[in-house]
Amino acid sequence: MELPFAESYKIKMVETIRRSTREEREQWIKEASYNLFRLKSDQVFIDLLTDSGTGAMSDKQWSEMMTGDESYAGASSYFKMKNAISDILGFEYFLPTHQGRAAENVLFSVLVREGDIIPGNSHFDTTKGHIEFRKAFAVDCTIDEAFDTTLDHPFKGNIDPVKLEKVLVEQGDRVKFIIVTVTCNSSGGQPVSMENLRMVRHLANKFGKQVVFDAARFAENAYFIKKREAGYADKTIRAIVGEMFSYADAMTMSAKKDAIVNMGGFIAMRSHDLHQKASVFNIMFEGYITYGGMSGRDMSALARGLYEGTEFDYLDSRIRQVTYLGHQLMDLGIPVQQPIGGHAVFVDAKRFFPHLPKEGFVAQTLAVQLYLEAGVRGVEIGALLADRDPVSRENRYPALELMRLAIPRRVYTNNHMDVVAVALKNIWDRRDEITRGLRIVSEAPIMRHFTVELDLA
Ligand code: F0G
Repeated sequence: MELPFAESYKIKMVETIRRSTREEREQWIKEASYNLFRLKSDQVFIDLLTDSGTGAMSDKQWSEMMTGDESYAGASSYFKMKNAISDILGFEYFLPTHQGRAAENVLFSVLVREGDIIPGNSHFDTTKGHIEFRKAFAVDCTIDEAFDTTLDHPFKGNIDPVKLEKVLVEQGDRVKFIIVTVTCNSSGGQPVSMENLRMVRHLANKFGKQVVFDAARFAENAYFIKKREAGYADKTIRAIVGEMFSYADAMTMSAKKDAIVNMGGFIAMRSHDLHQKASVFNIMFEGYITYGGMSGRDMSALARGLYEGTEFDYLDSRIRQVTYLGHQLMDLGIPVQQPIGGHAVFVDAKRFFPHLPKEGFVAQTLAVQLYLEAGVRGVEIGALLADRDPVSRENRYPALELMRLAIPRRVYTNNHMDVVAVALKNIWDRRDEITRGLRIVSEAPIMRHFTVELDLA
């Protein structure tokens, strides 16, 4: 008999999580204005709000915390990070930042000006926020297949070459660079194929543009290339990662994802000139160029995390768990983005609640229901997140209205996944009884989803 699959790690430390009653949760979610970001973490049983900074570091990463070098300048921890980035990602220059959006802030301070156009595959909200904050425009060139959750396409993060070339031809000098998010969070943690990365590089060369990767989940992307793309099955994750980044000029990284740390990020680039220019903003916004908002110990743990995060056995355990939850939901007939992505399962809320109007924030309504049912916290990736159009100030209703269940790395067991699946099944079985959506009571002018206050519609 073939042995069943099991994780390639064991548990050395545990953290108690608290169950609650439905009555308690009804009270808490009301006090939180139906915004799951406003809940206290001990009001949550299984926290699938994000996979960002919520992973469990390994014993080896924790040991790096003890030997971190806290020197202001030239710390050995900085050089550990520099060596890991050069070794795994192949970039000569880098700047540490405190997290991913800080990397965007610093890099875009150099690269983005008012009126610029930045095409890419569904930009993440902070990326888009940093572009729009500078009065520039993020143009989504993702393939159309990504917006049909029922289609089983292996690389739904891909950029459509026709859409991209059209932007490059029509917008000319206004296009400053192309950004490729690997994996593409907004379209469902969906990977970009190597062939597609090669195509982007080719078009960038043809039009004299730079390519920047938003690399938060690059290792998960490499895993999918190995599993799904012809010619890569026998290549190591590191070899695939090496080829992926050979097509980029620069990258931003939220290390809170695939480098399995609780805080940290960086920018890496090939150009000395870009490094020099970005250093000025790094010093202003983040810190000196050899720590950029990070402690030495955090840089050391991050360096170690880049190695662990690109090990096949780890990635296999991780993505199998996400798939385990996704396939359970699919077997129950619950509509999810297919195929299942790398870091999360995305439930298609429009197909879950077809009777609710889009003005009622359908995915948020589902996320609130899931919290009430079992104390599980997911997150809305829909109209709340899409925010208002910066010019017309009208609500934007994106093609997909999703509830994301993001799985932290090395944190929960498959028993937790079973609870989530049954909780969703219970809601699915009585979906017709849920007839009230939500309405906004108050909201911030940008990135409103974090702090928005809602009430029942
Ligand atoms: N890019 C991508 C693709 C992301 O998913 C994130 C964060 C960022 C950039 C920004 O990085 O949080 O370190 O500042 N995503 C988190 C999430 C917040 O829940 O998906 P950050």
